[in-house]
Amino acid sequence: MKQQIVTPKRSLTKETEALLNKQIEMEGKSSAAYLSMASWCETKGYDTSSQFLYKHSEEERMHMLKLFHYINAAGGHAIQPEISGIKHSFKSLREVFNDVLTHELEVTKSINHIVDHCFSIKDFATFNFLQWYVMEQREEETLARRAVELFDIIGEEGVGLWMIDQEIGKLEMYAAKSSGTTT
Ligand code: FEO
Repeated sequence: MKQQIVTPKRSLTKETEALLNKQIEMEGKSSAAYLSMASWCETKGYDTSSQFLYKHSEEERMHMLKLFHYINAAGGHAIQPEISGIKHSFKSLREVFNDVLTHELEVTKSINHIVDHCFSIKDFATFNFLQWYVMEQREEETLARRAVELFDIIGEEGVGLWMIDQEIGKLEMYAAKSSGTTT
């Protein structure tokens, strides 16, 4: 009997697709979490932090959409995740940015895990696609760490919180400088 040869219709494995969909969920949750933080800051009068977080929420949505398009173009199916468990209130502005840093460190860990997986199965296209996220995480971690440091450097007493809120607005420039994307 003649053996039937089945030609694979895609190179994206089911396991990689599942990992990328998990990452979609993470980026979606990031976007929702930052939107919630932005709203809380707005109600408390932390206007610069609020603007910073609204913008950041949009960026996380863009990170999610990039993954949608990549998965679908590679022959998989990107899944809109369920988003729940978003925190709506915070004890302080410091807690907001502590949460941002903790969250970004988790995202980095997750990206690194997928990158490692892609390398091990020689999926170099996805490996290459993910390098953008690797560098993005470097910048976002720097930014979140710097935000948390502001609370110790400036102090929260007197006009401290007002100053910290102002300084948050300058962070993107700082992060871009330290990652070499601007001079
Ligand atoms: Fe897209 Fe900040 O993780």
